[in-house]
Amino acid sequence: MQKNTRDSYSFTSKFFHWTMSVIILTLLAVGLSMTRMDDSDLKWQIYAIHKSFGLIILLLLPMRLTWRLMNSRPHLDMVAPWEKQTAITVHWLLYLAMFLMPMSGWIMSTASNHTPLFFGLFEIAAPVAVNQATASVAYNTHITIAWVLMALLGLHLSGALKGHFIKKNNILKRMLPGRSKGHQDSSSEF
Ligand code: HEM
Ligand code: HEM
Repeated sequence: MQKNTRDSYSFTSKFFHWTMSVIILTLLAVGLSMTRMDDSDLKWQIYAIHKSFGLIILLLLPMRLTWRLMNSRPHLDMVAPWEKQTAITVHWLLYLAMFLMPMSGWIMSTASNHTPLFFGLFEIAAPVAVNQATASVAYNTHITIAWVLMALLGLHLSGALKGHFIKKNNILKRMLPGRSKGHQDSSSEF
């Protein structure tokens, strides 16, 4: 299977990045909207869909992390050392948020006795008892990390867009679908 090289991301890395990005950005927008809706059947259907897609993130994350740890990361030598360090730190904080968001949502729902019904098929309960205090801690975590995640994404996006439009480097291009320059480099070089 094609691996990352010094200059490009593999198909698998891009697949994980963009599939999970679309789901997460939608979950953020839908999460913020659904909690502000008036009580209706539609609202609770949207809650159920939010929970199911959130659990998909929790399922994909270990696979993505395994792939990430099996691969070298394309270099960031084209940016200043502080920008490189910030980008790498933000990446790992994004991975942490990708774990804490679905985990806290899952615990909140199970502990408040609203166990998710995965796409209407079967219940998936988190390994916690029904307990108001647990639900409350998980709820506060879910809300707080949602805002932390949005702030991290602000940094992440401004870095990618600054590189692309101002510095005109290939950082965004090598994450976009399709072949990028340097794609045939051998990953064994580093
Ligand atoms: C990466 C995954 C997830 C993201 C990005 C996400 C995002 C959000 C956001 C932005 C909100 C609104 C917060 C607010 O009102 O300020 C929310 C609410 C909520 N989320 Fe998630 N969520 C995720 C996963 C999950 C999962 C896996 C579950 C449950 C299994 C879940 C259950 C809920 C529930 C029940 C609420 C409503 C809480 C309330 O009633 O105020 N979420 N989510
Ligand atoms: C439109 C939205 C997005 C754009 C334009 C974008 C862009 C990029 C780019 C260009 C890279 C490569 C950076 C490099 O070469 O070092 C990257 C990596 C990364 N992105 Fe995004 N991203 C977006 C959304 C997201 C979202 C929503 C998340 C997760 C919540 C995320 C998490 C990551 C992570 C963890 C990496 C590092 C991959 C690695 O381990 O090497 N991104 N992103």
